[in-house]
Amino acid sequence: MENTEKKKKILSCIQPTGTPTLGNYLGALKNWKALEDDFDAAYAVADLHAITVRQEPQQFRKQIIEAYALLLSIGLSPEKSIVFVQSHVPTHAQLAWILNCYTQFGEMSRMTQFKDKSRSHADNINVGLFSYPVLMAADILLYQADFVPVGADQKQHLEIARDIASRFNGMYGNVFTIPEPYIPKAGARIMSLQDPAKKMSKSDENTKSFISMLDKPETIMKKMRSAVTDSEASVRFDEELKPGVSNLMNIYSCCTGLDHEQIEKDFAGKGYGDFKTAVGEAVVEELRPIRENFEMYMKDQAMLKEMMTKGADIATRISQRTLDKTMKKIGYVLK
Ligand code: TRP
Repeated sequence: MENTEKKKKILSCIQPTGTPTLGNYLGALKNWKALEDDFDAAYAVADLHAITVRQEPQQFRKQIIEAYALLLSIGLSPEKSIVFVQSHVPTHAQLAWILNCYTQFGEMSRMTQFKDKSRSHADNINVGLFSYPVLMAADILLYQADFVPVGADQKQHLEIARDIASRFNGMYGNVFTIPEPYIPKAGARIMSLQDPAKKMSKSDENTKSFISMLDKPETIMKKMRSAVTDSEASVRFDEELKPGVSNLMNIYSCCTGLDHEQIEKDFAGKGYGDFKTAVGEAVVEELRPIRENFEMYMKDQAMLKEMMTKGADIATRISQRTLDKTMKKIGYVLK
């Protein structure tokens, strides 16, 4: 946090829109935890972003709490990092409004996610959906983040955050740190268990295609057993010819730390049945502590509330400095 000034800053957020998958965990969240020691980290539940599509109130409330509990359950430490809920920190919406006035309609119209979502939510193409990347820029710039771990789908949004920041700095002097994407050293892109040409996704209609981070061991084993492979019956890494098996090898590798070569050796002469059981068991062990932590946190809502409040207080204090600086530059009279 603040007193470890030399560390670079990193920030990322997840939307509270359903339990993340094993793919989200191995590809992103697991890294968040690993980054805690080397960076000043801020992690948030992006609940303001989530209402760009309609949310059912009762469900939404539950998902926000669960998302926060899940961040703690993967081992993020409120002592090392700032872990908070976006809507608890008013500076996000405030800076987003300001940055809206420094962002051009034309550049936002090029955002591919907006174009895609306008198609998939044709009955609700709201202005928030359009200006969503500006809110994301505010999230990042408020904390002067040097790095932002993002997946491919968020690259363009990070790019616009950089553009907005550079433009603002160009007009007013150095106000914002220009954020860079953080590309993790390890961590694979985990694909659907049913169609390894597609990314594993929690919104897939076929629930056998993904493992949720909170799936029970029996469910994990069952889904793993029904994972698509091929007819060669040999555990060998070849993403082109054997995408299903290669995906399982990636999963196994992420959970055990073994490399592909070692996995091939260990399973030489064995069939897919044995391999799938091993991968399933490795996933069960990887997710077990997370599920157990989650159950513990969810049982103590008072403690969760308290931790949320602490996180929000720190985040507010830090981000307020950037907001004040920004407003002063523009000419606002600070109270
Ligand atoms: N838009 C991101 C997503 O849907 C979530 C997000 C919101 C985010 N604000 C952010 C990610 C800031 C990184 C940095 O995944």
